[in-house]
Amino acid sequence: MNSEMLNGRVAMVTGGGRGIGEASARKLSDHGAKVILADMDLAAAQAVAADINAKGGQAKALEINVAEFDKIPGKIAEAKALFGRIDILVNVAGIVGATPIEDITLESWDRMMDIDLKSMFFVTQAVFALMKEQGYGKLVHMSSLAALRGGRSSDASYAAAKAGILNLSKCFALHGAAYHITSNAVCPGNILTPMGKSLSWSHVDPKTYIPLGRYGTAEDIANAVLFYASDMSDYVTGDFMNVNGGLYM
Ligand SMILES: NC(=O)c1ccc[n+]([C@@H]2O[C@H](COP(=O)([O-])OP(=O)(O)OC[C@H]3O[C@@H](n4cnc5c(N)ncnc54)[C@H](O)[C@@H]3O)[C@@H](O)[C@H]2O)c1
Repeated sequence: MNSEMLNGRVAMVTGGGRGIGEASARKLSDHGAKVILADMDLAAAQAVAADINAKGGQAKALEINVAEFDKIPGKIAEAKALFGRIDILVNVAGIVGATPIEDITLESWDRMMDIDLKSMFFVTQAVFALMKEQGYGKLVHMSSLAALRGGRSSDASYAAAKAGILNLSKCFALHGAAYHITSNAVCPGNILTPMGKSLSWSHVDPKTYIPLGRYGTAEDIANAVLFYASDMSDYVTGDFMNVNGGLYM
């Protein structure tokens, strides 16, 4: 079911080359937004953009490594130039880890914080400045079930980074409210994407442990992203949505 509720809006989706980011970008495009697929895998982002354009949408690809912090301001300026503004930012790019607690090193910890937490802050910080000038913005951040429950198949550094996202989202919500900027997060459960397939739960029958009896799809998450990216969520900020089939309540 499509609508025109995002007509005139421009959305940038990090991690838009595949999985949850791809599904989110396609969903926002289906509802009228122009979309920027920002990913370190440029070929993947370009392929998704080409498909969206072939289907009548408007999409452009942007190569970005969200953990190259010195380049972020320039990359956001580049992104803004593609369609003239950024109304919606969906922070999806990230990695997962499954390192046992005893084996987490300073190096692996720092890498996780760089890619999954610091990137979220510094990408959002750069877009936040544009949104303040515009007097409008929708920030959506991909957290995780692990942020709330702790990491079981994912590791402790990942769970801590994703918990940090929930707090930073509230900081952007508090400081953006006066500028009509909302900031919310989504906490996916077990979602069968390329990342999901690398985790131990993907070998377990979901009927045995997920109340709704199936793994989540990237589109399940994209539906929550659409809510937070649209004016339907105008009175919701600093919040998060569990999309996990009842796995954690
Ligand atoms: N799949 C799940 O079960 C699940 C559950 C909870 C949370 N999440 C979160 O959702 C997000 C997306 O997950 P997914 O399952 O679609 O993952 P995925 O691995 O399938 O896709 C991730 C995308 O992000 C891109 N990316 C990774 N590092 C990047 C970087 N440094 N700069 C730019 N792009 C980068 C990759 O190229 C890829 O296109 C992640 O933040 C993940 O932690 C996923």
